[in-house]
Amino acid sequence: MSITTLSYGRTAAGEPVQLFRLANAGGMEVEIINYGAAVASIRVPDRDGNIADVALGYDTLPEWERGTSYFGAIVGRFGNRIAGGRFSLDGRDYRVPANDGDHSLHGGPDGFHRKVWTAEVFGDNALQLTLVSPDGEQGYPGTLTAQVTYTLGAENELTIDYRITTDAPTIANLTNHTYFNLTGDDGATILGHKLRLAAERYTDTGAGLIPTGELPAVAGTPMDFRHATPIGARINEAFPALGAAGGYDHNYVLDGEGYRLIGEVYEPIHGRVMEVFTTEPGVQFYSGNFLRDEPGKGGAVYPYRGGLCLETQHFPDSPNQPHFPSTVLRPGETFTSKTAYRFSTR
Ligand code: GLA
Repeated sequence: MSITTLSYGRTAAGEPVQLFRLANAGGMEVEIINYGAAVASIRVPDRDGNIADVALGYDTLPEWERGTSYFGAIVGRFGNRIAGGRFSLDGRDYRVPANDGDHSLHGGPDGFHRKVWTAEVFGDNALQLTLVSPDGEQGYPGTLTAQVTYTLGAENELTIDYRITTDAPTIANLTNHTYFNLTGDDGATILGHKLRLAAERYTDTGAGLIPTGELPAVAGTPMDFRHATPIGARINEAFPALGAAGGYDHNYVLDGEGYRLIGEVYEPIHGRVMEVFTTEPGVQFYSGNFLRDEPGKGGAVYPYRGGLCLETQHFPDSPNQPHFPSTVLRPGETFTSKTAYRFSTR
């Protein structure tokens, strides 16, 4: 195990940024930058021992600053959408910026993915990133302290521990927005990846991908990933939820509770496997429908559906859906959650 710290230049505003390279004895290497607390690369072997980068991203800081796809980033204060950019809490109404049509997405335009986090290395395999978001930032009440710890394990797993506190009643929903492509091949799509998700239901959405409040069963629909299925097998079927989102871009209601295995991605050509574990009640499965030949690392160009996200989270628009698991955080409480991506081959 080792961690190497490298200078990664300065933001346009002059803040210094670092890149942290975590390596284990299994040949896995993860790079994290403290701009956006973003996972910049994940190098893992395939079934023949060939190592490739399976995370989308950029080579240089100016590209991360210009990027609009949230590659690798921690998104907050509220991952996913808040309808109309409005919510109320304890009888007070709040407005947060509309940056996705009429709705607020991923904490607003100046969300956590745009911040330089304070980094601290722990031992030879953990990196803790801290961000203090002032009261009123992007419209959210309370000074929020977010702590995200990335740990690289000996079993080729990248674990993300979240810890959030506040000094006034507020809402919070953090996630990691890494785009995976387990081929590691430039220009490849994720349509041949087989996905399994332990979810019997998903949060149905209406216009603007805002939840209707209904939790339909996946059974008998192209939303069903209870058995491993190629992502591309049904993605273009005439099914309202797929049509509205332009592919998969939905929150799945995960079966069970507590820290558990919630799914797996298998890429049959190179044999890489990624298992996902989380304590969260939901996961946004996004099939990269907004990617359009985006220039990325080392001259790669990421095509339409060239990466997939499994964003573990509380459900979208929870502050306006009282029967969804609560995203309210109060002073004196500490919100914790944990997600891991474990890599192997088959
Ligand atoms: C999430 C959203 C998508 C899209 C991506 C980023 O997955 O649900 O609609 O905004 O982030 O492009």
